[in-house]
Amino acid sequence: MNELQVSSDTSAFEVPAALGANGKLTDHCVRQALSMMDTHGLVVLTGLLSDEEAGIGLELMRQTIDDPDRSRCSFASETDNVYVRRDFCSLPSTPPVTRFAATLCQRLEGVLSEYCGRSRPLLEVITLTSYRGSSHQYIHRDPAGVISLLAAVEDVSEQQGGTVFVPGTHNYGGSYNRHGGAVSELMELFRIRCNYRILRHNLKKLWGMRRDKETPLAPGEFRDRVFSRKWDQHQPNLLRFLLGKNSQFSLRMLGPRTLWKLRRHRETLSSLFHLVQAAPRKGTIILYRSDMLHAGPDNRAPHPRRFFGLSIARDIIEPKFWHDGYSPHPTLTAQPMCFGDLLDAPPLPAQARVPDRRLRASAG
Ligand SMILES: [Fe+2]
Repeated sequence: MNELQVSSDTSAFEVPAALGANGKLTDHCVRQALSMMDTHGLVVLTGLLSDEEAGIGLELMRQTIDDPDRSRCSFASETDNVYVRRDFCSLPSTPPVTRFAATLCQRLEGVLSEYCGRSRPLLEVITLTSYRGSSHQYIHRDPAGVISLLAAVEDVSEQQGGTVFVPGTHNYGGSYNRHGGAVSELMELFRIRCNYRILRHNLKKLWGMRRDKETPLAPGEFRDRVFSRKWDQHQPNLLRFLLGKNSQFSLRMLGPRTLWKLRRHRETLSSLFHLVQAAPRKGTIILYRSDMLHAGPDNRAPHPRRFFGLSIARDIIEPKFWHDGYSPHPTLTAQPMCFGDLLDAPPLPAQARVPDRRLRASAG
C-alpha cells in the first residue's frame, strides 16, 4: 500500500465571506455555505476575520498556552500533549474569549442557526497547537450531532498540516441508502485503508526521529507512543493495535473478509472518496459536521500550527457523552453557555473589524 494521497485543493469547498451591514454573512453567502455543508459536510469560509481580529484570537491562545495551569484537553492525542508534540487546551470563559467566540457566532448566525437552536450548549472553546514530531491522527468521526468550527488565526501551510477531511462522508436521513445501500460499509473500508497507511507513516516517522537532531525523541517517548498500555487512540501504538484495544484502528479490523473486500473494492473506494487537506489563510473559518470523516495531521514544519476551535451541539446532549468527546474549560462547566448567549454577547470592538466589509458585501 502507498502512503496517503491527499489533495490540497479546497477550492470546491470554499466560500468567500461577505458581511452585510448588520455584520453577519449576507443571505447569498449563507445559502452558498449551507449548500456546501449539506453536500460535502464542511465549508471553508475565507476572509471571515480581519488580520487584526485573527491577531486578537492568536493572542488569547498564546496567553492560555503560556499559562502553566492551563486546562489540557482530554479527548485526543494525549501522549502528544505529554511530550509537547501538541498542546490542546480549553480556553477560559473570560470576557475577551467570549467576545471573540461571540464575533464568530454572530457573523455565522445564518449558517449555524440552520443546525443549532439558541438553547443548544456551547460544548467547548479550545486552542489546538501542533508541533513538529506530532502523530497524524487516524481518520475518525467526532461524536455526532455537533457543528465544529476551526479558525485560522495565522496562515497555515501545507507542511504545517491543516485538518484533513473526507468530503461527503457525513450522515443524514437516508444517507446510508447511497451506492445501493453499501455506502456505510464502503466508507468504513476507506477509513481502514487510510488508517493502515497512517499507522505506517507514523511508525516510519517515529523510527526516523530516533536519530533526528532537529526533532529528537524525549526519553521514554518512543516506548510511550509505540508500546504503551495507556489509552490514546491516535498513536501508532503497536501493543494496543495487536491487542485490539484501539477503537480507531486495530488488528481486529483486518480480518480475511475485510482484506478481501479492500482488494475487491479498491477502485470503487478510490473513485468515491478523497482526502482533502485544508491549508487555510489567516482569518479563514472552517465549519464541519462532527460526524464526517476527518483527522488532524502531523505538523511537518518547524513552525507550530495553531487553530482556535469551538463546538456547538445540535441537540440535547448527555453530560458523559459531552465530556468524552469535548473538553469544556472548568469555567464553562461551572457556568454553561448556549448558542443564544453567544449571539447576545458583546462582540469584538468595531475598530478591530475590516472597514471595507460592507463594500465587499455589496459586491456580492
Ligand atoms: Fe476529530
